Amino acid sequence: MRGLFALTAGCTGGSEPAGSGTTSGGTATGEASTLTTGGTTPTTSSTTGEPPPPPTACAEPTTLSAAPRTIAEAVAFINELPQPLTLDCFLERLERPLAIAATKSVISLQPAEGASSPRLFLFFGEFVMSVAVDGHGFQLLEFGEPVGQWRSIKAEVSFPLTDIMGIEAPFTRVLRDPGGGGTSCGVCHGSEAPAPEYPQAFASDALRFPDFELVSFADLRGEYERCDPAAQPERCARLTALFGHGEVEAAAFPEAMPTIYDYE
Ligand code: HEC
Repeated sequence: MRGLFALTAGCTGGSEPAGSGTTSGGTATGEASTLTTGGTTPTTSSTTGEPPPPPTACAEPTTLSAAPRTIAEAVAFINELPQPLTLDCFLERLERPLAIAATKSVISLQPAEGASSPRLFLFFGEFVMSVAVDGHGFQLLEFGEPVGQWRSIKAEVSFPLTDIMGIEAPFTRVLRDPGGGGTSCGVCHGSEAPAPEYPQAFASDALRFPDFELVSFADLRGEYERCDPAAQPERCARLTALFGHGEVEAAAFPEAMPTIYDYE
């Protein structure tokens, strides 16, 4: 079953020359140009090569890039990036192509603000990270690390960060009470149980959004292309952190993964 995620996420791992899965410092000539491989951006010039990338959201320019496959790898990458660290900097530095699915679902901790500001899921193989485009949960990065079929360890990071983060922080953040009685995520994600992979971690059911709550990739890209920074600076910065720094592609949860409606 583990392969399904990679297939449906359109993961191109095998065809990537640079390898994947680990944090790397980039090469001397790396810069952003190695990441900007997409030929789909209408503004790309065919004669002079690629347009300059948008200004960085990072505290200082960096060539660091990573494709985290676990919460531990994501935390390690977070701790390498320059501080103060915004969520947009983290998103900007994730390896491309970035595989994204968007939903207008409003039943979650990061509810979509309608179809124009959907909730986004980023896929690195079966590892899922979730961010909002606007509104509630805008500073939160949610994790779902797969453990067995349709189960994932849940954790969360709140940005901006001004200090190195301990590996326990994303897990203790979501605890419902210090006694270890489960997480706030367990309210919706059923069958929660302690996860031995990390201290104080819990795993629970993995959930996808149903098809009728999908926001198409074309619509999502349109929101980026139409975004007016003068009117909505933070929302446009978030969309730019995702779309402005290299190739982005449509992804999907495996069809067989349950939705929240399957509980009824
Ligand atoms: C109010 C209900 C609700 C709560 C609370 C909730 N989620 Fe979810 N979550 C959902 C729904 C519904 C989905 C399916 C996608 C969608 O509709 O947005 C989902 C999907 C996910 C996914 C995608 C796949 C997977 O592994 O499940 C992740 C990751 C996730 N949530 C993380 C979290 C984390 C971390 C927390 C706690 C901090 C949390 N969620 C709390 C409703 C909730």
